[in-house]
Parts: sequence; structure tokens; C-alpha cells
Amino acid sequence: MSAQILDGKAIATDVREQVRLQVEQRVTEGQRPPGLVVVLVGENPASQVYVRNKQLACEKAGFKSELIQLPNDTSQEVLLELIDGLNARDDVDGILVQLPLPVQIDEHAVTERIHPDKDVDGFHPYNIGRLALRMPVLRPCTPKGVMTLLAHTGVELEGKDAIVLGQSNIVGRPMLLELLAARCTPTICHSRTRDLADKVRQADIVVAAVGVPNFVQGDWIKPGAIVIDVGINRLDDGSLCGDVDFEAAREVAGWITPVPGGVGPMTVATLLENTLQAAQLHTGT
Ligand code: GUN
Repeated sequence: MSAQILDGKAIATDVREQVRLQVEQRVTEGQRPPGLVVVLVGENPASQVYVRNKQLACEKAGFKSELIQLPNDTSQEVLLELIDGLNARDDVDGILVQLPLPVQIDEHAVTERIHPDKDVDGFHPYNIGRLALRMPVLRPCTPKGVMTLLAHTGVELEGKDAIVLGQSNIVGRPMLLELLAARCTPTICHSRTRDLADKVRQADIVVAAVGVPNFVQGDWIKPGAIVIDVGINRLDDGSLCGDVDFEAAREVAGWITPVPGGVGPMTVATLLENTLQAAQLHTGT
């Protein structure tokens, strides 16, 4: 039997429309539109594409969006001063510094400098800590978007065995916290994990975020499992593929996300949700 496809593109379109309607309502009531500033340092081609997508989505949702582009040799001091200025601006609800950053800049210093109320990426230790304590405020976009996808399956999450492949700060770790908060029993795996395939075979929910094309094999998947593929890998022929062998896994899984058109659009839609949430925090409505 073939898995049902979790259509992230369609679900993201719905989320974005909901955000747009709420923004329209706020503006009709005399409030200013949510404001997002995206900071891009250097010329990483993938980052340029992601940033453009985020900006377009903001404009379509009725946000005020601003892009600040800085050269590759920007010093950490200059970037931190820029963030201080954005933290102080009343018309800026969200600040997003696109990662990765050039080597001379410490990502942790940058993440911690953004005011937690404007941290629409949800990467600040304050926001990660709130999530860990089940008191979330601004939640990291990709894991939160995955939770929206899981909700769309209609499958009860409580008590499910979930496995997260990849321990990054921006996906794997907050994903573990999200699944735990949803009362799953999550396990996280990384490059030192033993008997990985056997662990995946136990899981009712698999979230793959390792950045290795077709890493997860079809015969690792428990029949009926929900398979969420966070990977976006470009192959030599220019095509995109995920971290899961999609064709093999779809024969076994109950639900599966495609790449592209699965998790990727949800990350952008969730950024819009977070920016609207930040605006609501700032205006008290
Ligand atoms: N680089 C890859 N994903 C992300 C993300 O979600 N936010 C930021 N700021 N940078 C990224």
C-alpha cells in the first residue's frame, strides 16, 4: 500500500492565507502591519534563494519587510551593532539573521543579541528554554512547521515513539522538544548512534534532518509510520532530493512528505506566523 502524501505546499498556503487575513484585519483596525527585517551577510547562493522566498512571502501576507545585505567581510562588531539598532526600532517586530554566517562571526553571539521578543527564528536560548519547559513563546520555524504537518494527519501523537535523525540546534534539538511537549516518546540520533536502522524501525514517527541524500532506506520504516523529510539536497544533475529514499519509503509508510513541497514551504509559512505573533506581543493585541 502506498503512503498518503503530506502536502506541505497546500498546508503552507492555508497557513499563509490565515496570516494574511489576520494582518488585513489588524490594519483595518488601525494597527501597523507586522515588520520583519532579514539580514543576509555574504553571498551564499542557497541563502540568497531562501531569503528571497521569505521576503516574497512577507509581502504577500501584507507585512512590511526589509532586507539588509552586508558584505562577506562584515565584522561581528558591526553585525551586533546593527542588531542593537533593530532591537530598538518600534516598527520592527521580527529580526532574522540568515545562517550560516561567515567564519569570522560567532553565530551564538548573534543569536543571543537578538531580543527574545523579536527572535522570530526562535533560536535564542530564552526561546529554546521556554520550549524545553513547555512554556513556548516563539518556536523555531522548521520544527513548529513539522508539528503543523503532523496535526494534519489527524493521528493522535500522545504516546507515539518518535525518532529524530540529526542533532542540529535549528532543527533536531528543538524538534525533540516539540515531540516531547506533544507527549511522544522521542529519541534523537546522530553520527555516533549505534544500530540506527533498528532504532528507526521502532518508530511511529520519523523526522529526518541529516543532510545526506536518500540516507533513510525504505526497509528501515515501520509499516504505517509517519515520515517527515526535512532534507533538501541538490544532486549533481541539479535535481532536489530529501534525506529519505522517497520511492521505497512511500511503499511502507502511512504518511510521507515529498521533497520539494513538504517541510520547506512550512518553514516559510511558520516564519510568517511567528512574525505576526511577535507583532501581537509588541502591541498587546
Ligand atoms: N538557515 C537555514 N535555515 C534557517 C532558518 O530557519 N533560519 C535562519 N535564520 N537561517 C537558516
